[in-house]
Amino acid sequence: MSAVKILVLHGPNLNLLGVREPGVYGTTTLDGINRALEELATELSLELEIVQSNSEGALVDAIQGAMGECQGILINPAAYTHTSVAIRDAIAATALPAVEVHLSNVHAREPFRSHSFIAPVAVGQICGFGPESYLLGLRALAKRLGK
Ligand code: DQA
Repeated sequence: MSAVKILVLHGPNLNLLGVREPGVYGTTTLDGINRALEELATELSLELEIVQSNSEGALVDAIQGAMGECQGILINPAAYTHTSVAIRDAIAATALPAVEVHLSNVHAREPFRSHSFIAPVAVGQICGFGPESYLLGLRALAKRLGK
C-alpha cells in the first residue's frame, strides 16, 4: 500500500520566521517547524510534501498539484487567509480535507485577522499555539484520514 501523503503549505512571509516579529510569531524558524513536522509524520506513518511560497498563484498551483498525489492538506495561508478567494476555491476544488493552522491567535489580534476565507472549506482551524499549532493540525488531519 502506498504511503498517505500530506501537502504542507506555508504562505507568505513564513520564510522569515525566527526573525519576523518574534513577539508575535516566536523564534522558531520555518526549518525548525518543518523538522518537527517530519518527526511527527514518521511517528504517524505519513509522508509530507512541504512547500512555502510568497505568491498566491504558486500556492494555488501547489494545491491543484495535490490532486491525485496527496490525501490531505495542512495549510498556514498566512496573510492570504484574510484575502484569498483563489486559495479557498482551490481547496474546495480538490475536495481534499484541509486543516488551517496559524501560529498566533488570529481572533485575538486586529479585527481583519478574525475573518478567514479558508475556514469554511477547511475541516477546522487551529490557532494560537505557536509551532505546536502545526503539530496539532497534523495530528487532527491524520485522525481524519484514519491514521
Ligand atoms: C499567521 C496569521 C496571519 O494573520 C498573518 O498574516 C501571518 C501569520 C499566523 O501563523 O499566525 O502571516 O497566519
